[in-house]
Amino acid sequence: QEVHAAQMERTFIAIKPDGVQRGLISEIIARFERKGFKLVAIKLVIPTKSFAQKHYHDLKERPFFDGLCDFLSSGPVLAMVWEGEGVIKYGRKLIGATDPQKSEPGTIRGDLAVVVGRNIIHGSDGPETAKDEINLWFKPEELTSYTSNQEKPDS
Ligand code: PPS
Repeated sequence: QEVHAAQMERTFIAIKPDGVQRGLISEIIARFERKGFKLVAIKLVIPTKSFAQKHYHDLKERPFFDGLCDFLSSGPVLAMVWEGEGVIKYGRKLIGATDPQKSEPGTIRGDLAVVVGRNIIHGSDGPETAKDEINLWFKPEELTSYTSNQEKPDS
């Protein structure tokens, strides 16, 4: 009987239009790669406003909702899925606090951003949102499955 290993944890990470326009793609990807997380999907897209509203649907009562959706749809977004043990929580740690004035040096926002409306990157905040956001942004066939040489063998 064939036994399939449980699917490794995955999260949705997006470099927002400000991050793409500032030329921060390679800097940000490098941090996730060096940590040892595995890139399983990636594409550059300009979301429509209605797509942005879907992405941020949890925030529709917030005063900044409309501006945030306008901003996300204002230019190319680099949409990615990263995989690895603890990647949802640790990805948020690499990103740093929402408000770049509060994010620690050493984090992406702490090192590279100044204001909350232009905080360059988004990461799923939990397992449910990770699943929903991956499904919203990617078709199943866009998600790859491979072994990277940074992974430790199964014990
Ligand atoms: S909150 O206030 O606790 O809901 O904030 P948070 O969950 O950390 O953030 C949710 C997303 O809203 C963005 N955000 C803002 N955008 C513009 N202006 C203001 N004031 C603002 N406050 C929060 C924040 O960056 C989060 O977006 P993502 O893309 O997930 O980082």
